[in-house]
Amino acid sequence: MVAIPTSLKGRSLVRLQDWTPEEIRLVLEQAERLKARQRQRAEHSLLEGRTIALLFEKPSTRTRISFVVAMQQLGGHALDLSMELMHVGKGGEPIRDTALVMSRYVDAIVVRAYRQSLVDELARWAEVPVINGLSDAFHPCQALADVLTIRERFDGLEGVRVAYLGDGDNNVTHSLMTVCAKLGVDVVVASPPGYEPRPEVVGACQEAAARAGSTVRVVHDPREAATGADVLYTDVWTSMGKEDEQEARRAAFSLFGVDEALLALASERAVVMHCLPARCGEEITEGVLYGPRSAVWDQAENRLHAQKGLLALVVR
Ligand code: CP
Ligand code: NVA
Repeated sequence: MVAIPTSLKGRSLVRLQDWTPEEIRLVLEQAERLKARQRQRAEHSLLEGRTIALLFEKPSTRTRISFVVAMQQLGGHALDLSMELMHVGKGGEPIRDTALVMSRYVDAIVVRAYRQSLVDELARWAEVPVINGLSDAFHPCQALADVLTIRERFDGLEGVRVAYLGDGDNNVTHSLMTVCAKLGVDVVVASPPGYEPRPEVVGACQEAAARAGSTVRVVHDPREAATGADVLYTDVWTSMGKEDEQEARRAAFSLFGVDEALLALASERAVVMHCLPARCGEEITEGVLYGPRSAVWDQAENRLHAQKGLLALVVR
């Protein structure tokens, strides 16, 4: 059986900013141990008898399935709830009451919401851990899987350089920057003017990076960011909820797509990452997404392992 460090029991993950590098490393190490156990088909029912609820306000494929499967593999159970079908989604019941009631039934809540403030509010009142399964501002579970994938691909994080290309004011970008900064990985974000990551996130990341001995930069030239990078990371140009900006965004981001030419500028060992879902022909070409340098499918699989590590540590 795998031993569980107890220091994180009861902790919420609403944003990675709140977690120390050591706490993030505990999750990654637990995820790696559980992934190895699962590969060996070895026992790891660490959450027998526990239930989590998935409270989702937006669509999801990976987050939803990976949390349900994670709980099954850990010997527990997950309730897949759409916010629309609950009183809270109709505006008829306050978040506070929803949080208090759900805490009497389940051992953790995974929430996917439009506004980060809803995630914060739920975590404020819940008596069980609340895990942010994506908001407008952050996607911490994605970032845990991302850094797990980078560790696997490069046998650690030492000397790895990450370049993110595309929409900077984006949940995935913010969480990727945060995890890289905290763990001492150099990260450069290339976005068109007006689409840079939020200044307060950049500031916090630069402080964390200074402590960890790495750098966080924001530039406007995708070629500059890609040159010599070990990871080229991208996400959709139009995130959920911003559909009415799609045409303007297509125009603004037209030079930021990850294609074969951009990949040729990266390091010899470079891999391409994307949180998915992808829009081929926009932020990534089909050749790159399905090509030999793509780490995207391992990255998607690692959502499961990273979340198993997280759940095993935070659920009481
Ligand atoms: N990457 C990710 O969160 O995917 P889903 O929206 O499908 O959950
Ligand atoms: N930035 C994307 C990520 C999807 C997983 C979105 O919010 O739609």
